[in-house]
Amino acid sequence: MKKIRWGIIATGAIASKFAQACRFECDRSGISELYAVASRDEVKSLNFANTWNIPVSYASYEELLADPEVDVVYIATPHSMHAPLSYSALQSGKAVLCEKPVSLHRDELEPVIALARQKKLFFMEAMWMKFNPSFQTALKWALSGKIGFLRYIRSDFCFSAQFNPVDRLFDPALGGGALLDVGIYPVTLAHMFSGGKKPSSISAIMRNGPTGVDIWNKAVLSWDSGVFADLSSSISIHGGAALRSALIVGEQGSILLPDFWMAQRAVLLNTEGLELAVAEAPFECNGYEYEIREVEHCLLGGKIESSVQTWSDSIMVMEILDQIRKVAAT
Ligand SMILES: NC(=O)c1ccc[n+]([C@@H]2O[C@H](COP(=O)([O-])OP(=O)(O)OC[C@H]3O[C@@H](n4cnc5c(N)ncnc54)[C@H](OP(=O)(O)O)[C@@H]3O)[C@@H](O)[C@H]2O)c1
Repeated sequence: MKKIRWGIIATGAIASKFAQACRFECDRSGISELYAVASRDEVKSLNFANTWNIPVSYASYEELLADPEVDVVYIATPHSMHAPLSYSALQSGKAVLCEKPVSLHRDELEPVIALARQKKLFFMEAMWMKFNPSFQTALKWALSGKIGFLRYIRSDFCFSAQFNPVDRLFDPALGGGALLDVGIYPVTLAHMFSGGKKPSSISAIMRNGPTGVDIWNKAVLSWDSGVFADLSSSISIHGGAALRSALIVGEQGSILLPDFWMAQRAVLLNTEGLELAVAEAPFECNGYEYEIREVEHCLLGGKIESSVQTWSDSIMVMEILDQIRKVAAT
């Protein structure tokens, strides 16, 4: 059977983690082949290829997209390039796994999804959190009634980055800011646990840093079911583990996910906060192997959309992020 040939676009921090997981998966299952990498810089591309044992390296993203041997591309550039590159990759006939957030705004995402649908090509936002086994366990607990009727979600993703106006985190031209970079995780968690419906109300505040992007934000979302979510994210505050967790509260108990976006442990609590069950699930590699398996599963099954990270999930989350920015600005 022909292997699925991956091409990686960009050689930054997350591209390296992804390459490590992809190398692990290729060696483990043999379903895929880590075939090509592209960087804007020839030397970086070669070094990356040597590090991860990738046979082909390109000195531009366009060259990789023009290579007919590439089946699926993983896009790991700054945010502002996600939708344009996804569009170009689909136009070149490639399946796409694109880093989060998959666009800057909802409006920018819709033509990408329309093109995937028209060309019958797989497209998915790399929301790896959803595929992690501990996250899946927490979701199963909630859906099977272990915590009773859902009432409240609290989730924070705060860390403090060294300020650098030209870093992708702080540069508005690259789509910087806490909400787009890490706030997407609490919003995605709340969207998923609340049942994937549109919130009935959103209130939010934001604090912008010197470059004009948000360095801290807080949003409260509520749904017609009565559930509400209290979410925050920051790239300038580090509150340790307390500001990196998710608590999903029902009428009969709650679920705690420490470091929820990369959870390797889910804890089921009773209404007094006492532990009822702990599910430990250490990553087999570094956690990115599970989203890679989902892409493989979809491509082998001829699916153009994941049933775990759907197109409408990405659209709804982008719409919520748009709305948070809008109400915070008023
Ligand atoms: N899923 C996760 O857990 C996770 C974790 C971290 C980040 N991310 C996402 O992954 C993406 C990349 O994040 P990262 O932390 O890997 O960033 P990074 O280390 O800064 O790498 C970004 C890469 O994008 C390329 N690039 C193209 N145009 C650029 C420009 N104008 N300025 C800077 N870099 C440019 C560069 O690769 P070349 O020079 O090789 O072209 C660069 O190495 C972001 O969307 C981020 O939100 C996801």
